[in-house]
Amino acid sequence: MTKLLTLLVGGIATLAAAQTAAPYTDAKSNITFQAYQHTTGYFLGLALPNDPTGNTDVIVTIGGKGTGWSGVSLAGPMKNALLVLAWPNSQAIVGSFRKTAQYGSPLIATGTFTQTLIANGTYINSTHWTYTFLCSKCIQTDGTTFAASANTTVLGYALNSAAPSNKANAASSVSKHTSRGQVTFDLVKARSKDFATWKAWATPKVQQGFQA
Ligand code: HEM
Ligand SMILES: *[C@@H]1O[C@H](CO)[C@@H](O)[C@H](O)[C@H]1NC(C)=O
Ligand SMILES: *[C@@H]1O[C@H](CO)[C@@H](O)[C@H](O)[C@H]1NC(C)=O
Ligand SMILES: *[C@@H]1O[C@H](CO)[C@@H](O)[C@H](O)[C@H]1NC(C)=O
Ligand SMILES: *[C@@H]1O[C@H](CO)[C@@H](O)[C@H](O)[C@H]1NC(C)=O
Repeated sequence: MTKLLTLLVGGIATLAAAQTAAPYTDAKSNITFQAYQHTTGYFLGLALPNDPTGNTDVIVTIGGKGTGWSGVSLAGPMKNALLVLAWPNSQAIVGSFRKTAQYGSPLIATGTFTQTLIANGTYINSTHWTYTFLCSKCIQTDGTTFAASANTTVLGYALNSAAPSNKANAASSVSKHTSRGQVTFDLVKARSKDFATWKAWATPKVQQGFQA
């Protein structure tokens, strides 16, 4: 009996460690993503166009439970990757791009990439916050993100259930993650014929108080 239990527990642990994304449709925007969900309530989803040739855009949904921060590494590792960091501030979401060459609170990254809000995919309810945006010119060719042509990739996720010290400031430093890891995304499954329709929903800063 003890042995059987050990085997069972071992089997479950193996399953839990094999982290992958799965199809997920956001309840409010009705956009379908390939998404990873963490037991803390953190989630991360991607949607891509059907034709990856030369594409630099991706629609991202990221969020969590409570008021802490959620982040993604678009390349997988924390270092030398394009990171997106977001958290709720009252009824708005604060989002930023970050990059760092060393472990530590990553500084703001600047480049041609932009985040443009998709309004009905961005909300705060009684349990979770959700930020959905068009990440434009986000797919780079310098290794700081996954490649447009990739059929599968590993992304990094990180979160801390505690809010940043200065949550009204998009450049705020954050405390180290309380959970982090890497997840395999099937990018073929993230592709949709509806991408162009969803992309057209992105409108700059329509939500009052939004910062990116
Ligand atoms: C004060 C802030 C931060 C510190 C001190 C920090 C430090 C570290 C360290 C030391 C590791 C190696 C494994 C570990 O010790 O857990 C790591 C891993 C990781 N971090 Fe951070 N981190 C910070 C913020 C962030 C942010 C904001 C993100 C994402 C937006 C992020 C994403 C990751 C990811 C994806 C990993 C796993 C992959 C890897 O090891 O490169 N980190 N971090
Ligand atoms: C989300 O917003 C877009 C643009 O305003 C709209 O066309 C779409 O129908 C909305 N989605 C839902 C499920 O209402
Ligand atoms: C949600 O999207 C699916 C296709 O992805 C569509 O068939 C359905 O009508 C949409 N529902 C709403 C409420 O817009
Ligand atoms: C809040 O939104 C999240 C993300 O869409 C959803 O998973 C959760 O069920 C929602 N909670 C409530 C109480 O509606
Ligand atoms: C992705 O899959 C397509 C179709 O199978 C294939 O033609 C292409 O070479 C693959 N791309 C990569 C980078 O492996």
